[in-house]
Amino acid sequence: MSNTANPTWSILGAGAIGSLWACYAQRSGHNTELIFRDRRSLAAYRQHGGIRFTANGQTDLLNIAARCPATITAPIQHLLITTKAQQTLTALAAIAEYIQPDASLVLLQNGLGIAEQVQQQFPEARLFKASTTEGAYRPSRFAVVHAGRGQTLIGSAADKADAIAQSLSFAPLTVSPNDNIDAVLWRKLAINCAINPLTVIHRCRNGELLDKPEALAQIASVVEEILQLSKILNFDQELANLHQQVLDVARATANNRSSMLQDIESGKETEIEAITGYLCRLAAKQGLHLPANQLLLDEVQRISLQNRV
Ligand SMILES: NC(=O)c1ccc[n+]([C@@H]2O[C@H](COP(=O)([O-])OP(=O)(O)OC[C@H]3O[C@@H](n4cnc5c(N)ncnc54)[C@H](OP(=O)(O)O)[C@@H]3O)[C@@H](O)[C@H]2O)c1
Repeated sequence: MSNTANPTWSILGAGAIGSLWACYAQRSGHNTELIFRDRRSLAAYRQHGGIRFTANGQTDLLNIAARCPATITAPIQHLLITTKAQQTLTALAAIAEYIQPDASLVLLQNGLGIAEQVQQQFPEARLFKASTTEGAYRPSRFAVVHAGRGQTLIGSAADKADAIAQSLSFAPLTVSPNDNIDAVLWRKLAINCAINPLTVIHRCRNGELLDKPEALAQIASVVEEILQLSKILNFDQELANLHQQVLDVARATANNRSSMLQDIESGKETEIEAITGYLCRLAAKQGLHLPANQLLLDEVQRISLQNRV
Protein backbone atom coordinates (compact mmCIF):
# COMPACT_ATOMS: atom_id res chain seq x y z
CA MET A 1 0.00 0.00 0.00
CA SER A 2 1.23 3.53 -0.83
CA ASN A 3 1.86 6.02 1.98
CA THR A 4 4.40 8.75 2.65
CA ALA A 5 7.04 6.40 4.03
CA ASN A 6 6.31 3.75 1.47
CA PRO A 7 5.17 5.51 -1.71
CA THR A 8 4.41 3.89 -5.03
CA TRP A 9 7.31 4.71 -7.33
CA SER A 10 6.70 5.06 -11.05
CA ILE A 11 9.85 4.21 -12.97
CA LEU A 12 10.46 6.00 -16.27
CA GLY A 13 13.02 4.06 -18.34
CA ALA A 14 12.57 0.31 -18.00
CA GLY A 15 16.17 -0.46 -18.96
CA ALA A 16 18.95 -2.04 -16.90
CA ILE A 17 18.90 0.33 -13.93
CA GLY A 18 15.13 1.01 -13.94
CA SER A 19 14.37 -2.72 -14.09
CA LEU A 20 16.91 -3.42 -11.33
CA TRP A 21 15.11 -1.04 -8.95
CA ALA A 22 11.68 -2.32 -10.02
CA CYS A 23 12.66 -5.97 -9.51
CA TYR A 24 14.06 -5.47 -6.02
CA ALA A 25 10.99 -3.37 -5.12
CA GLN A 26 8.69 -6.14 -6.32
CA ARG A 27 10.69 -8.80 -4.49
CA SER A 28 10.47 -6.88 -1.24
CA GLY A 29 6.71 -6.35 -1.58
CA HIS A 30 6.72 -2.68 -2.61
CA ASN A 31 4.46 -1.22 -5.27
CA THR A 32 6.12 0.16 -8.37
CA GLU A 33 5.12 0.58 -11.99
CA LEU A 34 7.31 0.64 -15.05
CA ILE A 35 6.48 3.24 -17.68
CA PHE A 36 7.24 2.05 -21.20
CA ARG A 37 7.66 4.40 -24.12
CA ASP A 38 4.51 3.38 -26.07
CA ARG A 39 1.70 0.85 -26.48
CA ARG A 40 3.89 -1.39 -28.65
CA SER A 41 6.62 -1.76 -26.00
CA LEU A 42 3.98 -2.27 -23.32
CA ALA A 43 2.27 -5.01 -25.35
CA ALA A 44 5.63 -6.72 -26.00
CA TYR A 45 6.41 -6.57 -22.27
CA ARG A 46 3.03 -8.12 -21.38
CA GLN A 47 3.55 -10.80 -24.00
CA HIS A 48 6.89 -11.60 -22.36
CA GLY A 49 5.16 -11.93 -18.98
CA GLY A 50 7.41 -9.61 -16.98
CA ILE A 51 11.09 -8.90 -16.37
CA ARG A 52 13.46 -11.87 -16.26
CA PHE A 53 15.60 -10.95 -13.28
CA THR A 54 18.93 -12.58 -12.47
CA ALA A 55 20.82 -11.89 -9.26
CA ASN A 56 23.20 -14.13 -7.31
CA GLY A 57 22.80 -16.88 -9.88
CA GLN A 58 19.01 -17.08 -9.41
CA THR A 59 16.58 -16.13 -12.20
CA ASP A 60 12.88 -15.26 -11.74
CA LEU A 61 10.23 -13.84 -14.03
CA LEU A 62 8.72 -10.89 -12.17
CA ASN A 63 5.42 -9.54 -13.40
CA ILE A 64 5.78 -5.88 -12.47
CA ALA A 65 2.87 -3.49 -13.08
CA ALA A 66 3.44 -1.49 -16.25
CA ARG A 67 1.97 1.37 -18.22
CA CYS A 68 2.76 3.62 -21.16
CA PRO A 69 1.82 7.31 -21.54
CA ALA A 70 -1.50 6.41 -23.19
CA THR A 71 -2.59 4.10 -20.36
CA ILE A 72 -1.67 6.20 -17.31
CA THR A 73 -4.76 6.98 -15.27
CA ALA A 74 -3.51 8.10 -11.84
CA PRO A 75 -1.44 11.22 -11.06
CA ILE A 76 2.28 10.58 -10.55
CA GLN A 77 3.67 11.75 -7.20
CA HIS A 78 6.96 9.80 -7.05
CA LEU A 79 8.95 9.33 -10.25
CA LEU A 80 12.30 7.59 -10.58
CA ILE A 81 13.89 8.57 -13.91
CA THR A 82 16.30 5.98 -15.27
CA THR A 83 16.44 6.77 -18.97
CA LYS A 84 19.77 7.66 -20.55
CA ALA A 85 20.52 11.36 -20.04
CA GLN A 86 19.71 12.40 -23.62
CA GLN A 87 16.35 10.56 -23.52
CA THR A 88 15.07 12.27 -20.38
CA LEU A 89 13.27 15.36 -21.68
CA THR A 90 11.40 13.52 -24.45
CA ALA A 91 10.40 10.76 -22.04
CA LEU A 92 9.18 13.28 -19.45
CA ALA A 93 7.27 15.35 -22.02
CA ALA A 94 5.15 12.31 -22.90
CA ILE A 95 3.89 11.95 -19.30
CA ALA A 96 4.08 15.60 -18.18
CA GLU A 97 0.30 15.98 -17.82
CA TYR A 98 0.22 13.24 -15.16
CA ILE A 99 3.10 14.54 -13.06
CA GLN A 100 1.78 16.38 -9.99
CA PRO A 101 3.19 19.92 -9.62
CA ASP A 102 4.85 19.07 -6.27
CA ALA A 103 5.93 15.54 -7.31
CA SER A 104 9.25 14.09 -6.16
CA LEU A 105 11.43 13.48 -9.22
CA VAL A 106 14.63 11.47 -8.84
CA LEU A 107 17.17 11.56 -11.67
CA LEU A 108 19.24 8.39 -11.42
CA GLN A 109 21.58 8.62 -14.40
CA ASN A 110 25.04 9.64 -15.53
CA GLY A 111 25.85 12.94 -17.16
CA LEU A 112 25.11 16.50 -16.08
CA GLY A 113 23.02 19.40 -17.31
CA ILE A 114 19.68 17.58 -17.50
CA ALA A 115 18.50 18.35 -13.94
CA GLU A 116 18.40 22.10 -14.60
CA GLN A 117 16.23 21.55 -17.67
CA VAL A 118 13.91 19.21 -15.76
CA GLN A 119 13.53 21.74 -12.95
CA GLN A 120 12.66 24.41 -15.53
CA GLN A 121 9.98 22.18 -16.97
CA PHE A 122 8.59 21.30 -13.50
CA PRO A 123 9.40 24.37 -11.39
CA GLU A 124 7.51 23.26 -8.27
CA ALA A 125 8.73 19.66 -8.29
CA ARG A 126 11.04 18.35 -5.58
CA LEU A 127 14.05 17.38 -7.68
CA PHE A 128 16.64 14.91 -6.40
CA LYS A 129 19.83 13.81 -8.14
CA ALA A 130 21.28 10.37 -7.60
CA SER A 131 24.39 8.50 -8.64
CA THR A 132 24.93 4.77 -8.49
CA THR A 133 27.82 2.36 -8.91
CA GLU A 134 25.50 -0.69 -8.95
CA GLY A 135 26.13 -2.61 -12.17
CA ALA A 136 23.33 -4.05 -14.31
CA TYR A 137 22.90 -5.07 -17.91
CA ARG A 138 20.21 -6.38 -20.21
CA PRO A 139 21.08 -9.67 -21.91
CA SER A 140 17.81 -9.30 -23.85
CA ARG A 141 14.97 -6.80 -24.06
CA PHE A 142 12.97 -7.63 -20.90
CA ALA A 143 15.77 -9.21 -18.89
CA VAL A 144 18.17 -7.71 -16.39
CA VAL A 145 21.23 -9.10 -14.66
CA HIS A 146 22.51 -7.55 -11.44
CA ALA A 147 26.19 -7.84 -12.31
CA GLY A 148 27.96 -5.96 -9.52
CA ARG A 149 27.22 -4.41 -6.16
CA GLY A 150 27.89 -0.72 -5.63
CA GLN A 151 26.58 2.22 -3.71
CA THR A 152 23.92 4.79 -4.49
CA LEU A 153 23.93 8.37 -3.23
CA ILE A 154 21.12 10.90 -3.46
CA GLY A 155 20.80 14.57 -2.66
CA SER A 156 19.06 17.80 -3.47
CA ALA A 157 19.94 21.46 -3.35
CA ALA A 158 16.59 22.34 -1.78
CA ASP A 159 15.39 19.36 0.23
CA LYS A 160 16.50 16.82 2.78
CA ALA A 161 16.88 13.49 1.02
CA ASP A 162 16.63 11.09 4.00
CA ALA A 163 13.03 9.95 3.50
CA ILE A 164 13.38 9.63 -0.27
CA ALA A 165 16.63 7.67 0.14
CA GLN A 166 14.92 5.33 2.59
CA SER A 167 11.92 4.79 0.32
CA LEU A 168 14.17 3.82 -2.62
CA SER A 169 16.30 1.38 -0.59
CA PHE A 170 14.76 -1.87 -1.79
CA ALA A 171 16.93 -4.55 -0.18
CA PRO A 172 19.72 -5.26 -0.92
CA LEU A 173 19.94 -1.88 -2.71
CA THR A 174 20.81 0.88 -0.29
CA VAL A 175 20.40 4.52 -1.19
CA SER A 176 22.17 6.97 1.13
CA PRO A 177 21.48 10.69 1.47
CA ASN A 178 24.42 12.92 0.58
CA ASP A 179 24.53 16.64 1.27
CA ASN A 180 27.01 17.38 -1.52
CA ILE A 181 25.55 15.41 -4.40
CA ASP A 182 26.82 17.94 -6.96
CA ALA A 183 30.38 17.11 -5.91
CA VAL A 184 29.64 13.38 -6.20
CA LEU A 185 28.22 13.88 -9.70
CA TRP A 186 31.11 16.13 -10.73
CA ARG A 187 33.65 13.47 -9.68
CA LYS A 188 31.68 10.81 -11.54
CA LEU A 189 31.53 13.05 -14.63
CA ALA A 190 35.28 13.65 -14.47
CA ILE A 191 36.03 9.92 -14.27
CA ASN A 192 33.57 9.15 -17.08
CA CYS A 193 35.18 11.86 -19.27
CA ALA A 194 38.59 10.27 -18.75
CA ILE A 195 37.60 6.66 -19.42
CA ASN A 196 34.44 6.22 -21.52
CA PRO A 197 35.31 8.15 -24.72
CA LEU A 198 38.77 6.56 -24.78
CA THR A 199 37.32 3.04 -24.64
CA VAL A 200 35.35 3.94 -27.77
CA ILE A 201 38.30 5.45 -29.61
CA HIS A 202 40.63 2.57 -28.73
CA ARG A 203 37.80 -0.01 -28.93
CA CYS A 204 38.91 -1.68 -25.73
CA ARG A 205 37.88 -2.70 -22.24
CA ASN A 206 38.51 -0.23 -19.42
CA GLY A 207 41.65 -1.97 -18.17
CA GLU A 208 43.24 -2.17 -21.61
CA LEU A 209 43.61 1.63 -21.62
CA LEU A 210 46.34 1.16 -19.02
CA ASP A 211 48.44 -0.87 -21.47
CA LYS A 212 48.36 1.76 -24.22
CA PRO A 213 50.88 4.63 -23.93
CA GLU A 214 48.76 6.81 -26.25
CA ALA A 215 45.65 6.29 -24.11
CA LEU A 216 47.60 6.99 -20.91
CA ALA A 217 48.81 10.29 -22.37
CA GLN A 218 45.25 11.17 -23.40
CA ILE A 219 43.98 10.38 -19.88
CA ALA A 220 46.63 12.70 -18.43
CA SER A 221 45.62 15.58 -20.77
CA VAL A 222 41.89 15.10 -20.16
CA VAL A 223 42.43 15.09 -16.39
CA GLU A 224 44.65 18.17 -16.56
CA GLU A 225 41.95 20.12 -18.43
CA ILE A 226 39.21 19.03 -16.02
CA LEU A 227 41.34 20.19 -13.09
CA GLN A 228 41.86 23.55 -14.80
CA LEU A 229 38.10 24.02 -15.22
CA SER A 230 37.36 22.73 -11.70
CA LYS A 231 39.70 25.33 -10.25
CA ILE A 232 37.80 28.14 -11.97
CA LEU A 233 34.50 26.68 -10.71
CA ASN A 234 35.84 26.16 -7.17
CA PHE A 235 35.25 22.43 -7.51
CA ASP A 236 38.92 21.44 -7.34
CA GLN A 237 38.77 20.21 -3.70
CA GLU A 238 36.29 17.56 -4.93
CA LEU A 239 38.85 16.19 -7.37
CA ALA A 240 41.93 15.64 -5.22
CA ASN A 241 43.93 12.77 -6.75
CA LEU A 242 41.72 12.66 -9.85
CA HIS A 243 44.45 11.24 -12.06
CA GLN A 244 45.19 8.39 -9.64
CA GLN A 245 41.47 7.79 -9.13
CA VAL A 246 40.90 7.42 -12.88
CA LEU A 247 43.72 4.87 -13.11
CA ASP A 248 42.31 3.02 -10.06
CA VAL A 249 38.81 2.88 -11.58
CA ALA A 250 40.21 1.62 -14.91
CA ARG A 251 42.08 -1.08 -12.99
CA ALA A 252 39.15 -2.01 -10.74
CA THR A 253 36.80 -2.28 -13.74
CA ALA A 254 39.46 -3.70 -16.06
CA ASN A 255 37.19 -6.33 -17.57
CA ASN A 256 34.22 -4.00 -18.21
CA ARG A 257 33.17 -2.66 -21.58
CA SER A 258 32.08 0.89 -20.77
CA SER A 259 28.43 1.77 -21.39
CA MET A 260 29.60 4.18 -24.11
CA LEU A 261 31.44 1.40 -25.93
CA GLN A 262 28.42 -0.90 -25.52
CA ASP A 263 26.14 1.77 -26.99
CA ILE A 264 28.47 2.21 -29.98
CA GLU A 265 28.66 -1.54 -30.51
CA SER A 266 24.89 -1.87 -30.51
CA GLY A 267 24.36 1.14 -32.80
CA LYS A 268 22.70 3.24 -30.04
CA GLU A 269 23.12 6.91 -29.25
CA THR A 270 25.76 7.42 -26.54
CA GLU A 271 25.67 9.74 -23.50
CA ILE A 272 28.71 11.69 -24.80
CA GLU A 273 26.71 14.96 -25.06
CA ALA A 274 25.77 14.83 -21.36
CA ILE A 275 29.31 13.84 -20.33
CA THR A 276 32.16 15.34 -22.40
CA GLY A 277 29.74 17.64 -24.27
CA TYR A 278 28.51 19.12 -20.98
CA LEU A 279 32.09 19.60 -19.78
CA CYS A 280 33.16 21.42 -22.98
CA ARG A 281 30.06 23.67 -22.97
CA LEU A 282 30.64 24.57 -19.33
CA ALA A 283 34.27 25.41 -20.09
CA ALA A 284 33.27 27.55 -23.10
CA LYS A 285 30.99 29.61 -20.81
CA GLN A 286 34.10 30.36 -18.75
CA GLY A 287 36.04 31.30 -21.90
CA LEU A 288 38.11 28.14 -21.59
CA HIS A 289 38.90 25.74 -24.43
CA LEU A 290 39.57 22.08 -23.55
CA PRO A 291 41.30 20.73 -26.68
CA ALA A 292 41.89 17.16 -25.46
CA ASN A 293 38.27 16.76 -24.33
CA GLN A 294 36.94 18.50 -27.45
CA LEU A 295 38.91 16.07 -29.61
CA LEU A 296 37.36 13.08 -27.79
CA LEU A 297 33.88 14.63 -28.13
CA ASP A 298 34.30 15.18 -31.88
CA GLU A 299 35.78 11.75 -32.40
CA VAL A 300 33.06 9.86 -30.47
CA GLN A 301 30.36 11.86 -32.28
CA ARG A 302 31.97 10.99 -35.61
CA ILE A 303 32.20 7.27 -34.75
CA SER A 304 28.66 7.30 -33.43
CA LEU A 305 27.30 8.92 -36.60
CA GLN A 306 29.17 6.46 -38.80
CA ASN A 307 27.74 3.64 -36.73
CA ARG A 308 24.13 4.77 -36.88
CA VAL A 309 23.81 5.36 -40.64
N1 LIG B 1 23.60 -0.06 -16.37
C1 LIG B 1 24.44 0.26 -15.38
O1 LIG B 1 25.09 -0.60 -14.79
C2 LIG B 1 24.57 1.71 -14.93
C3 LIG B 1 25.35 1.98 -13.80
C4 LIG B 1 25.46 3.28 -13.34
C5 LIG B 1 24.80 4.31 -14.01
N2 LIG B 1 24.06 4.01 -15.11
C6 LIG B 1 23.36 5.13 -15.76
O2 LIG B 1 21.96 4.94 -15.59
C7 LIG B 1 21.24 5.46 -16.72
C8 LIG B 1 20.38 4.34 -17.32
O3 LIG B 1 21.29 3.36 -17.83
P1 LIG B 1 20.80 1.92 -18.31
O4 LIG B 1 22.03 1.09 -18.43
O5 LIG B 1 19.68 1.45 -17.46
O6 LIG B 1 20.27 2.29 -19.78
P2 LIG B 1 19.24 1.47 -20.67
O7 LIG B 1 19.30 0.02 -20.34
O8 LIG B 1 19.44 1.93 -22.08
O9 LIG B 1 17.82 2.02 -20.16
C9 LIG B 1 17.23 3.20 -20.57
C10 LIG B 1 15.74 2.88 -20.74
O10 LIG B 1 15.03 4.10 -21.01
C11 LIG B 1 14.03 3.76 -21.96
N3 LIG B 1 13.54 4.94 -22.66
C12 LIG B 1 14.20 5.72 -23.55
N4 LIG B 1 13.38 6.69 -24.02
C13 LIG B 1 12.18 6.51 -23.41
C14 LIG B 1 10.93 7.18 -23.48
N5 LIG B 1 10.74 8.22 -24.30
N6 LIG B 1 9.91 6.74 -22.71
C15 LIG B 1 10.08 5.66 -21.90
N7 LIG B 1 11.24 4.98 -21.79
C16 LIG B 1 12.27 5.40 -22.54
C17 LIG B 1 14.72 2.81 -22.90
O11 LIG B 1 13.75 2.12 -23.65
P3 LIG B 1 14.15 1.23 -24.93
O12 LIG B 1 14.66 -0.05 -24.34
O13 LIG B 1 12.85 1.10 -25.62
O14 LIG B 1 15.18 2.00 -25.67
C18 LIG B 1 15.47 1.93 -21.92
O15 LIG B 1 14.64 0.88 -21.47
C19 LIG B 1 22.32 6.00 -17.67
O16 LIG B 1 22.51 7.37 -17.43
C20 LIG B 1 23.57 5.22 -17.27
O17 LIG B 1 24.77 5.91 -17.60
C21 LIG B 1 23.92 2.75 -15.59
